[in-house]
Parts: sequence; C-alpha cells; structure tokens
Amino acid sequence: MKVLVTGGAGYIGSHTVVLLIEAGYEVLVFDNFCNSSRESIRRVEKIVNQEITVIEGDIRNRDDLRNVFEKYAISTVIHFAGLKAVGESVEKPLKYYDTNVNGSAVLFEVMAEHNCKSIIFSSSATVYGDPHTTPILENFPLFVTNPYGRSKLMVEEILRDIYVSDNEWKIVLLRYFNPVGAHESGTIGENPNGIPNNLMPFIAQTAVGKREILSVFGDDYDTKDGTGVRDYIHVVDLSRGHVQALERISSFRDPMTINLGTGTGYSVLEMIKAFEKVSEKKVPYKIVPRRAGDIATCFADPSYAKKVLDWEATKTIDEMCKDSWHWQSKNPNGY
Ligand code: NAD
Ligand code: UD1
Repeated sequence: MKVLVTGGAGYIGSHTVVLLIEAGYEVLVFDNFCNSSRESIRRVEKIVNQEITVIEGDIRNRDDLRNVFEKYAISTVIHFAGLKAVGESVEKPLKYYDTNVNGSAVLFEVMAEHNCKSIIFSSSATVYGDPHTTPILENFPLFVTNPYGRSKLMVEEILRDIYVSDNEWKIVLLRYFNPVGAHESGTIGENPNGIPNNLMPFIAQTAVGKREILSVFGDDYDTKDGTGVRDYIHVVDLSRGHVQALERISSFRDPMTINLGTGTGYSVLEMIKAFEKVSEKKVPYKIVPRRAGDIATCFADPSYAKKVLDWEATKTIDEMCKDSWHWQSKNPNGY
C-alpha cells in the first residue's frame, strides 16, 4: 500500500517525503509545481538514495487524480497541496478558495470513489485567530481573518462533515505553528517566490546579502521585548509529526485535531539574535509599524500531540537557525 503526498515537492512535503521513505513507506508525490520545482524531488532522491514516483497533476482536476487512484493502491493521503500566502489570499480570494477548498473537495471525492478514506491534512494555527490566552489548546475558539485562514478552516469543517456522513473515514487535522529550518544536508529547504513574507526566510536572505535590511513589524506589542512572539518549529520535527500520525491513523476512531508546535514562543528580536549567533553574520534591521492582521503572541500547547502521537519537537532554536543558514548559504538563489 502506498502513501500519496499531494504537494510533496513543496517545503514541508519534501521534508516529509524524506522521513516517510526513511521509515519504510512507499511514497507517491502528486504536485502541479506551481510553487515548487522538480529539483526538490531530485535532491530528495539523493538524500534517500532511491527514485521517487512523481505525478504531475492538479488537485482540482478529477481526471488527474482518478488516473493516480486507478493505477496505484493508495492507503492514505497526506494532503499538503495548496496556496499559502496570506496577503495574496486577500487580493485573490477566489484563487485560494478554488485551490484550497475546491481542490481539496475534489481530492476527497476521488478518494471516496476509490475507497481510500484515510487522510492527514495540513491545517494551520491561523485558525485560532488572535487567541484570548496562550499556550493554545486544540479546543480554543476558532476565528479566521483572511481568505487563506478561512480556506483552512473550511477544509477542516468539510472533513468533519465527511466523517459524520461516513465514519469509516480516518482523519487527522494537523495545525502547524511556524515551520522553519531545513534538512540537515542543506540540500532541501524553503524556497519562497520573490520577497519572503515570513520572518525566517527574510532573516536568512538578509544574512546572505540578498536583502539589505529586515523590517521588524512593530516593537510595541505586549510581549517580552515588544516584538511579535511565535512558536517556530523545525520542519524536520514537523515532518516527523506526520510519520507519527500515519503510524497511528488507522487506530483513531474520531477525527483528530492536533497542534504541532514546540510550546515555546520566541520574539522577532530573539530570532534575529539566534540567527546572528549561528551564522556569524550581521542581520541589519529597522523597526517599522505593525503589519496589518498580525497578533502579538501565538504558541502551542503541544501536550495533546505528545499524548496521542507520542510526538514532541526536539530541535532547538539554534538548530532551526543553523539549518536555515546551511540551506540558505549553500543555495543563495534557492533551487
Ligand atoms: P509549499 O508552497 O512549499 O508547498 C505546497 C505544494 O503544493 C507546492 O509544491 C505546490 O506546487 C503544490 N500545489 C499547490 N497547488 C496545487 C494544486 N492545485 N495541485 C497540485 N499541487 C499543488 O507550501 P508548504 O510550506 O510546504 O505548505 C504545505 C501545506 O502546509 C500548505 O497546505 C500550507 O497551507 C500548510 N501550512 C504551511 C505553513 C507554513 O508556514 N509553511 C503553516 C501552516 C500550514
Ligand atoms: C504568517 C501568516 C499566518 C501563517 C504563518 C505561517 C500573516 C498575517 N500570517 O503568520 O497565516 O499561518 O505565517 O506560515 O501573514 N515579521 C517581521 N518582519 C518580517 C516578517 C515577519 O517583523 O519581514 C514578524 C511578524 O510580525 C511576526 C513574526 O515576525 O511577529 C512572524 O511572522 P511570519 O513568519 O510572517 O509568521 P506569522 O505572522 O505567524
């Protein structure tokens, strides 16, 4: 039986494919490469020293998916494919609903047609909005403020509805906090298109000299040093969470919703300092006004993941920065 990884050429997908293969799973990658390249897969092949079956296709296209399910016996789908830029989702909401919501619905329909009813879905801590308190537990109220976040919440709801209609489905919703870092080989990593929106790739590109200066969005939040606090999690720890979920999914009865975070929040200034220390590079920065839509503090209570997945993050902030730097300095222009 095979595991289908949609979006498997992307940032989190490629790291997860490495760990799945290392854990002995047979993996198929399905991707339309709209935000990735075949080079990431070639590099994954080098890491694991085996060829990977890659199907180029779009999750919105029933026939693309049917061809895969007809050809291969797929036991579980790990569903990463989607669009993830919050700002773009505000400008182009329909593009986000089409890919993230419609694409997911088409995928679930084709899965059901082929009696594949086991899915691990990439959700996000963005579904908690501005939490009333931290750390964040899975049962906190959900509140979304932009089309990207709404698309994630909608897919969560669709999956819960599917379960109500047919409780043979096995569903794991993983809510990621802030994935950073890269594989220790430095050969695969995050490869943002254009100017990075997220903090870590912006820091790394500034350290390597691609960007002149980092803008720190606000230093007047009610946090330890006034800058935003987030739960940065090493992408390899995050990927390991998927392997743990896959190992257990058939034993879960109800849909499982699980935070994947470290439980520790770091401020923007702490991240800059940690990055400077491991890279031995200066990261010039300036304080600018807050970014619209940002919140002060967001970090997980990861104890449920420990309980039900026997998973916890192990990599430190220094390892996150070291591996991001290794990837960035070896690949200053990405793939
Ligand atoms: P990514 O853009 O690197 O990977 C997504 C992959 O999906 C890409 O390879 C892209 O080409 C593919 N894809 C997009 N639309 C597709 C379509 N219609 N058909 C087939 N393939 C398609 O993003 P990532 O950071 O690896 O994120 C993976 C998932 O995790 C996404 O669903 C994202 O929303 C979610 N997530 C990411 C973060 C984060 O900070 N990176 C945080 C929370 C949740
Ligand atoms: C962003 C998304 C969120 C998504 C998450 C993980 C927004 C509004 N939210 O959240 O939906 O789930 O990424 O992909 O985009 N910062 C700077 N300067 C920068 C970039 C960021 O100071 O150039 C600060 C931010 O203000 C924040 C922290 O760094 O305090 C982290 O930012 P970022 O990496 O964009 O993640 P989130 O804001 O958590």
